[in-house]
Amino acid sequence: MTRVFSGIQPSGVPTLGNYLGAIRNWVPMQDTHESIFCVVDLHAITQWQDPKELARQTREMAAALIACGLDPRRCILFIQSHVHAHARLAWIFNCVARIGWLNRMTQFKDKAGKDREAASSGLYVYPNLMAADILTYHASKVPVGDDQKQHLELANDIAQKFNHDYGVDFFPTIEPLIQGVAARVMSLRDGTRKMSKSDPSDQSRINLTDDHDTIALKIRRARTDSEPLPDHAAGLEGRAEARNLVGILAGITNTLPENVLREHGGKGFSEFKEVLVAALVAHLDPIRTEMARLLDDPAALDAELRLGADRAEAIAAPICARAEEIVGFLPRR
Ligand code: TYM
Repeated sequence: MTRVFSGIQPSGVPTLGNYLGAIRNWVPMQDTHESIFCVVDLHAITQWQDPKELARQTREMAAALIACGLDPRRCILFIQSHVHAHARLAWIFNCVARIGWLNRMTQFKDKAGKDREAASSGLYVYPNLMAADILTYHASKVPVGDDQKQHLELANDIAQKFNHDYGVDFFPTIEPLIQGVAARVMSLRDGTRKMSKSDPSDQSRINLTDDHDTIALKIRRARTDSEPLPDHAAGLEGRAEARNLVGILAGITNTLPENVLREHGGKGFSEFKEVLVAALVAHLDPIRTEMARLLDDPAALDAELRLGADRAEAIAAPICARAEEIVGFLPRR
């Protein structure tokens, strides 16, 4: 069975973007692939995280993933820092990846902002850790949103260079799986920017913890233009905000934007937004309720995560140890 790996940062509450672009696509893979999903706390601290908040958000993210349909009996679900192979292999990859490759990463440029000199060195080598996450499981498929594509191309470059430099055929090629009509959900305030859990404006996103009233308020306030919805996709050209809302409804109701436009074309946004609110609430309410139930019993949740880490480690540790042996590290006997 093909092995799948993906991860999500506990740097905030999971958003509708995370859900439609990634998490929702992970759920059916549990039955068709050997699936490994990880809450990547090592990645989160590449930007400042309050320690207490990080611990809380890590547990909250794990609860969100289970509430969205990941079943710790059908997949491996764990916390990245619980399995040391990730950090160990990442160090080797820091020595394989070239600085020139990292300099091309657009996400580093976005996240570091204007004052690049002040960014953490962890943020700079972030893609090397991502490559280690995947390759320490010899995973070959990685379901992600559109924004991770460049990082996965780099992971393939690292795997190839490692294989070439050491004369081995050890690390497999990674195939990104970028699925669905909502592989890039945009901010509700600016249709040209990605919806993000770390955007300073809470109004820019729908969180999986938002209740009915909050969702309604955010969608009603979402930026749009003043034209009615077109009845065909070409009519969305140059209308980023309109395209985004249509994409969200298509994503959440599992259909294509064309079908949304066929049904709602000609409507004004105030009417369309009410349809969208109803669909979002119907879909997200059970997730929010289940998340709260899981977070009510942190000991049970932690026990699932410990089990997940044991299972992950059983796969990752021997692969990492073999990579260390290939590099020439003397085994501890
Ligand atoms: P993160 O935590 O930013 O996002 C988790 C997943 O959600 C997707 N995503 C989106 N999809 C559509 N629209 C959006 N607005 C949106 N925002 C986020 C992301 O593409 C991602 O799939 N570097 C990764 C985490 C990671 C990882 C890995 C992923 C670490 N190691 C190994 C795959 C394999 C990240 O920051 O995701």
